[in-house]
Amino acid sequence: MVKDTLTLTDNRTGKSYEIPVQNDSIRASDLRQIKVSDGDFGMMSYDPAFMNTASCASRITFIDGDKGILRYRGYPIEELAEKSSYLETAYLILHGELPTRAQFDGWAHDITFHTIIHENIKKFMDGFHYDAHPMGMLVSTVAALSTFYPDAKEIFVPEARKLQTHRLIGKMPTLAAFAYRHSLGLPYAYPDNELSYTGNFLNMLFKMTEVKYRPDPVLERALDVLFILHADHEQNCSANAMRSVGSSQADPYCSVAAAAAALYGPLHGGANEAVLRMLGEIGSTGKVPEFIKEVKAGKGRLMGFGHRVYKNYDPRAKIIKEVAEQVFEVTGRNPLIDIAVELERIALEDDYFIKRKLYPNVDFYSGIIYQAMGFPVEMFPVLFAIPRTSGWIAQWEEMLLDAEQKIARPRQLYLGEDKRSYAAMEQRGTSAGKTDPTRPRKAA
Ligand code: ACO
Repeated sequence: MVKDTLTLTDNRTGKSYEIPVQNDSIRASDLRQIKVSDGDFGMMSYDPAFMNTASCASRITFIDGDKGILRYRGYPIEELAEKSSYLETAYLILHGELPTRAQFDGWAHDITFHTIIHENIKKFMDGFHYDAHPMGMLVSTVAALSTFYPDAKEIFVPEARKLQTHRLIGKMPTLAAFAYRHSLGLPYAYPDNELSYTGNFLNMLFKMTEVKYRPDPVLERALDVLFILHADHEQNCSANAMRSVGSSQADPYCSVAAAAAALYGPLHGGANEAVLRMLGEIGSTGKVPEFIKEVKAGKGRLMGFGHRVYKNYDPRAKIIKEVAEQVFEVTGRNPLIDIAVELERIALEDDYFIKRKLYPNVDFYSGIIYQAMGFPVEMFPVLFAIPRTSGWIAQWEEMLLDAEQKIARPRQLYLGEDKRSYAAMEQRGTSAGKTDPTRPRKAA
């Protein structure tokens, strides 16, 4: 009979251990029984950057990176992008099921009802320098929201959590748009609650002197699809930040600020900016072969290619490529798309990229669309943070309600100095105080 266990033999002691296997995994804490002596702390697993560590069990998003599959709550991303709206997808991600008509209408009303921000938040915005990065403004002002809603601390009260969820999803576009208008020196445009979620966002960004802003339906839908594609992506860097900060029972505004800060980095939410810079430097389709040659020679990377999880075409990139063509019908063609398509064509036929399973990722085409729609590159991570808020909150709530979760606190392998005595300043610079650590030590 097949046993769901793993037998490990410690060659230091000759002892064998039988460790239970569940969901093709072992519990790292089961390794602690493996000891050389009774006083030993026990075996740990060492996994910098969590390359092979599941930090939680989740029911929200499924990714099969080898097959290029992404599903929210079991629904394929392709179907959601074609048939759903961002608000409906956000409901699905947070509640686990698609809403009925009545549930959706109530949800859309609740989000819309919370799009306005306190007038004092505008004063925070006004305090930023004229060239402040909009992501810095977003991170700070979403954290500042916690000071307006003391009930946000009641994280174990379901009604309070629901209210903060509505507020966060409702207000993120408003904060983002106000940050954008501030950087241009434009007056803030207030929400128009008759418009859709993305239509209203475009209104707050681009409304000028017209009495009523009417978003272009193609651009409104394109942004909505981009928001669906960015709503969640399981345990990425920012979701991990949200769970980690939230595990100390901080309020959700401060936790979302932490998650957004993680997203700010160029290795996470900032890669599409690097793609645009790269395409600009290449300059024309004729120069693509030369550029690919340089990448293969190790002189830089093909930005927007490759992914830690996807070893196949990122399903989001496929959809975004199609959306790009629809957007260009309205905005005119962004000439960078031709360079991108040529790069993709050549790279996907090249052994270097085939062998390493390097395919276009979500960032390869998204920046080109955002640029065509009139967004400056600094706004790109902000455009990512707005829809990802629903994913962050779902991850946070799942963590809070998971009886197995506690404050997130990893272990370390201590490789520093062993105990030594303080040396007076006059005695330093010699070998005083030096020790020779021979093996790592672990804090209990
Ligand atoms: N261009 C050229 N070669 C690449 C690229 C690339 N974009 N990505 C990986 N490689 C090569 C590496 O040089 C390495 O080759 P080697 O085995 O000969 O040394 C091999 O492929 C494996 O690469 P790693 O860096 O080990 O892969 P990792 O999983 O750590 O990195 C990452 C993933 C960071 C996304 C990487 O592919 C990369 O830098 N891509 C470009 C940046 C980018 O587009 N980031 C956006 C990711 S999507 C998102 O965060 C929303």
